[in-house]
Amino acid sequence: MSNDSEADDESEGTEGPVPIGVKLGSTRTVIAYPGEDGELETIRTLTCLATYDDPLTGEERVLYGEDAAREYPDRVQFMLRSGLPEDDDRADLTKKFFDSVVEENDLPENSGVVYAIPTIDNPDGLENLSSVIEDSAIGDALVESYPESLCGSIPAFGDDLEAIEEIFIAVNMGSTNLEASAYRRGEQLAPFTTGAVTGNEVDRMIANYVEEETQGRVNIDTQTARDYKEEHGDYLDFEPFTDIIQQPGGGSHEFTIERSVTDALDEYLDEVVEEFSNTFLPELANDYMKVYQLALDRPIVLTGGMACIPGIVEEFEDRVSDELNREVEATAPGQADLAATVGAQRIATRLVENL
Ligand SMILES: Nc1ncnc2c1ncn2[C@@H]1O[C@H](COP(=O)(O)OP(=O)(O)OP(=O)(O)O)[C@@H](O)[C@H]1O
Ligand SMILES: [Mg+2]
Repeated sequence: MSNDSEADDESEGTEGPVPIGVKLGSTRTVIAYPGEDGELETIRTLTCLATYDDPLTGEERVLYGEDAAREYPDRVQFMLRSGLPEDDDRADLTKKFFDSVVEENDLPENSGVVYAIPTIDNPDGLENLSSVIEDSAIGDALVESYPESLCGSIPAFGDDLEAIEEIFIAVNMGSTNLEASAYRRGEQLAPFTTGAVTGNEVDRMIANYVEEETQGRVNIDTQTARDYKEEHGDYLDFEPFTDIIQQPGGGSHEFTIERSVTDALDEYLDEVVEEFSNTFLPELANDYMKVYQLALDRPIVLTGGMACIPGIVEEFEDRVSDELNREVEATAPGQADLAATVGAQRIATRLVENL
C-alpha cells in the first residue's frame, strides 16, 4: 500500500533505544550504529580537533578529524596521544571533539552506548573517558564499557556474541599500547600492557629508516610514515614504492622505498612476539595454568589497527610457534581497525534488548 512507508516512519519513533558502539582511540575514533536499512553504519575519523573563531560572530568553532588535521596542521590537537584523556584539559577537549562528532552525525539521544576501553592502569584517565561518554548527548538508555580487546575479538568468532562464551587469548595491537589478555566467558584474566611496542613506534622507525635509505635526502613526518605503513605495509607481498617530495628551493625529488617499511614492521612483530611469549604467557601460566593450556589450543585473536596489516596473522603464528616450540594458531577479525566498535555495538544491541 502507498502509505506503508509512513507507517514505518511512525513506528520508528516508538521503537526502543538505538544500540551504539564507540571506540575513542588515540589515532582514530570509530562509532557504529544501525542505519535505516538495518545495515551497520560506521563513522571513522581521526581523533583530533582544531578550534577557530568564527569571523562573523566571534564564536568558537570546532573542526575535527581529517579536515582539522589537513587545514590546521599548525594547531591540530590529538588529545588522546597517550591513549586516554590524561587531565581535565584533555577531557574537555575530548568532550568537545566527541560532542561535535555526535552532533554532526545526528546520533540519537535515545540510545544505549557501549564503549571499548583500553586496558591501561590509569584510573583518572579511565574516569575522564567515562565522563566524556556519560556527559555526551547519546546514551540516555544506558552507557557501559567493555575491554577493547574483548570487543575487538567478537567479530572474529562469528556474527553474534559467540566470543563471550569462549576461552581464548587476545592481543590488541594499537597506536600507543600493546595489550594481551586471556578471556574466560567474558572475564578478563592476566591483562598485560606495554607502551614500548606500538604502532606509533613503527611510524617513528619508518621515518628514521626512510632518512637512512635515502642517504639523508628525504625527511618525512610520522603522519606520512603512518600513511606508508597503512598503504604499503605487508608481511607477505611487500612491493617497493616511489614517492616524491617537493624541495624547499623548488624542484622535486623522487625516491623509492624498498626496506624502510618492511624493516620497521619486522622489528615490531619480533617485539610483539617477544613480549607475548616471554612476558605475558608466563604470567598467564603462573596465574591460570588451565586457562593457559586451553587457550593455547585455540586460535589467538589479533585485534587493533596493526592487525590490519596483510600477512601479520600468519607471520605471528610462525614466529610464536618457533618461540614456544609448539604449533599455535592465530586469527583476526575481518576489519581489525573497526572490530572493537562493531563488537561494542553488538554488546549494546544485547543490552538494549534486555532493558
Ligand atoms: N589498515 C591499516 N593498515 C595498517 N595499519 C593500520 C591500519 N589501520 C590502522 N592501522 C594502525 O593501527 C594503529 C591504530 O590501532 P588502533 O585503532 O587499534 O589504536 P588505538 O586504539 O587508537 O590506540 P591504543 O589503544 O594503542 O591507544 C595505528 O598505528 C594505525 O596506523
Ligand atoms: Mg586501542
